Amino acid sequence: MPCSVVATSKQTKKMRAACCGGVAGLLLSACGAAPETGVERGQRLLAQYQCGVCHSIPAAPGSVGRVGPSLAAFGLRSYIAGEIPNRPDTLARWIAEPASLVPETLMPDMGASDADARDMAAYLLALD
Ligand code: HEC
Repeated sequence: MPCSVVATSKQTKKMRAACCGGVAGLLLSACGAAPETGVERGQRLLAQYQCGVCHSIPAAPGSVGRVGPSLAAFGLRSYIAGEIPNRPDTLARWIAEPASLVPETLMPDMGASDADARDMAAYLLALD
């Protein structure tokens, strides 16, 4: 409904209400797209950092690598690299700086920020 229609003051009020309602509706629908969760962001980042060059990772596009171990069902794994307890904090640390936990590891430092590593860890820990 156009907002600039000439009308009596009573009608104008009604229209204004309708128009404002429309604007509010638009704003709501713009914000309505649910914000990305850490897990969803992690899934996107795994593809962005190209972890899949070396790892097979479920539902992460292009992740078919065989250099490193498969990360399927990683949320069910007790240990990272066979020796570090698999928890959100240790997994994020591993992803950000693997050699800080296992100095002789073959996994390279991927240059992930702490925030990015935390979300990638959240995604991997959700895999079961
Ligand atoms: C150049 C190849 C390479 C890339 C790229 C790579 N990794 Fe790894 N990754 C490895 C190797 C090799 C291991 C095994 C290391 C070990 O056991 O010490 C490993 C181990 C892991 C483990 C532990 C696996 C297990 O079975 O315990 C996780 C989790 C992991 N990588 C996540 C990632 C993530 C997330 C990225 C992207 C940010 C990534 N990796 C990028 C090679 C790679």
